[in-house]
This record gives sequence, structure tokens and C-alpha cells, in this order.
Amino acid sequence: MNNKTLPIFDSHAHYDSEQFDPDREQLLGEVLPRKGVVGILNMGSDMPGCETTIALARQFPYVYGAVGVHPECARELPGDWLERVETWLQEEKIVAVGEIGLDYHWLDACPKERQQEVFAAQLELAARLGYPAVIHDREAHADTLGLLRRYRPRGVVHCFSGSAETARETVALGLYIGLGGVVTFKNARHAVDVARTVPLERLLVETDAPYMAPVPFRGQRNDSSLIRYVIEKIAEIRCEDPQTVANAAIENTKTLFHLP
Ligand code: NI
Repeated sequence: MNNKTLPIFDSHAHYDSEQFDPDREQLLGEVLPRKGVVGILNMGSDMPGCETTIALARQFPYVYGAVGVHPECARELPGDWLERVETWLQEEKIVAVGEIGLDYHWLDACPKERQQEVFAAQLELAARLGYPAVIHDREAHADTLGLLRRYRPRGVVHCFSGSAETARETVALGLYIGLGGVVTFKNARHAVDVARTVPLERLLVETDAPYMAPVPFRGQRNDSSLIRYVIEKIAEIRCEDPQTVANAAIENTKTLFHLP
């Protein structure tokens, strides 16, 4: 099937990553738009990453941004980190608080209690100012759901790695489910179950570029154009037309982040 024209909105990418240093301008300026990428939401993960995210959103019309502190970057922060995040949210094309959450796989990077404190402060900020949150949950499903129940932000749990049952609980909280390259991996039982059962109006697609490249590019640098493989796989799992999945994902992304 030729899906050259599938429109792509990448709801989660890291173009501030040094892996894009050699060709970032060319990729964002020419290559991706030519391949059907109509929108990108870039994630800030630490203080410098948030500043780069803002610069990219200012430079490229189809790039939007989220600002926040990732759990792996939460150990040592400047005293005014939360005020800085709040100030950055006033930027015109900064539309979410992210990437924030809990990661119990990498506890060496930051202890649990500190992760929870930084996550909770940002959930409170997102809920108070009415911004959606982009949430990272790795091996921390119970604590993540607990904090989401407490603060009740709008938002998406990205690179969703929980079971179909956890996905149902997440959707019941009004949240969206973000799926990426993992659905194409062999043995991706959970992601496939989630892709099959999540309501289409709650589904976002993403790369997490430069990470998580889909099969047949697994292990290589990912970029937003490769979402085509994710969309095709989800469509196959759901027995739907790829165009239907692509259009729904774009509609959902625009609705969640209040985009034009
Ligand atoms: Ni990410």
C-alpha cells in the first residue's frame, strides 16, 4: 500500500537532542515537511532543553513545544526551576507541561521521592494554569496513576507501556494514550493490546525521536517521518484504514493541545 500522503503530527519528539546536531536545520526545515510531517510537539526535558524547544518553536512554523523537567533530570535543579517553567509557558507556541513523570527504571539518575516531588509540583502547575501535561511513566504505573488521580490534569501518557487495563483506567481519567515505535517491536504484547483496545478518539501517535525507531529501523536514529510505520501497524492491529488512524491522531493532538 502506498501511504506517501499520510499526514503526520508527531506528538512527542526531542529535536533538541545532540543526535540532531549534524542536520537539525535541514531535517526540520526541508526533509520532514516534504515527507508529510505537518506538526511536531517538541519536549523540553531539562532547563537547556526547554530553551532549545522554545527556539525551535520560534524558528519553525509547524513546531510547537512543551516545557518541563523529566524525572531523569530532576535530581539537581536551580532554586527557581518551577518559576522558569511557568514563565516559559507564556510563550505563544508552548502548549503543554512536559516531559514530566516517574521513571523507576533509572533510579540512579534520581531517587523516587525526588521524582515524585518534581512531578507533583509540575502536575499542580499544569492543573492550576490549565495546560495539558505530557507524562512519562516507566515501571511506575501505580504511583503515576495515584498522582494523576490527585491532580487530574488534562494530558497524555506517552510511550504507553502499561497493560490494556491500565490504559482503560488512564482513559477513564480523561487522559490520552501515546503510542510509538514499540507497537512494531516483536514481543510488544502490551502495546499491541493497548493499540487494539484504546478508543480511537483517545489515541496519539509519536516518535520519541531520536529514540524508539519503529521496525524496520529499530536501533537507528528515529525521526517524525517514520511515524508512518507506527500508524500502519496500529491500523493493521485495529483492522482500520491507515488514513483513518492518521486523521484521528491529528484531530486528537489538536484537540488536546488546543492547536489551530
Ligand atoms: Ni520523550
